[in-house]
Amino acid sequence: MTKYTLPELDYAYDALEPHISAEIMELHHSKHHAGYVAGANAALEKMAAARENGAIDGVVTGLSKDLAFHLGGHTNHCLFWKNLSPQGGGQPSGKLAELIDRDFGSFEKFQSHFNAVALGIQGSGWAVLAYDQIGDRLIVEQIEDHQNNYPHQAVPLLLLDMWEHAFYLQYKNVKADYVMAAWNVYNWKEIEARLKETLVQ
Ligand SMILES: [Fe+2]
Repeated sequence: MTKYTLPELDYAYDALEPHISAEIMELHHSKHHAGYVAGANAALEKMAAARENGAIDGVVTGLSKDLAFHLGGHTNHCLFWKNLSPQGGGQPSGKLAELIDRDFGSFEKFQSHFNAVALGIQGSGWAVLAYDQIGDRLIVEQIEDHQNNYPHQAVPLLLLDMWEHAFYLQYKNVKADYVMAAWNVYNWKEIEARLKETLVQ
């Protein structure tokens, strides 16, 4: 059976300092993300066993929820690590900048919108900038936990992890400082490349 694996980061754990500490990055990647990988694999293995022994009715609902949660955690973190770079920050250019201006009014207005969405998450979740293929436009949404409250046709371009494990060791309860610091490490080149792959032609 194909198994999910923990991807290597493109940079060292301390490469995003001072904006995101090495301690956070190491725990976040090697423990939290690894936990979602293990959880997704475990859910798939239990599903396979249930299919084999004919016990599918009793377990499929719970295992489906487990898989959605852990696989959501795995895929969100894979994208999040790519969204960040020690050479990041500044503003996007090209098509991404054009669509941000068109759909949010300006980069500054997009920033305010994204910050408010991130800081308004109740409990654990993610702020996401996504491209909605049906509407052919950018949208900002909140993902609850790793997998809820999100339209499926939208392709995530930029994710910000708003789970406490993403910031608490460094920023404590001051979430706003974490949200602002993240603007210094967003990898706009990678985010724009992701947009180009998914644009309606
Ligand atoms: Fe996380």
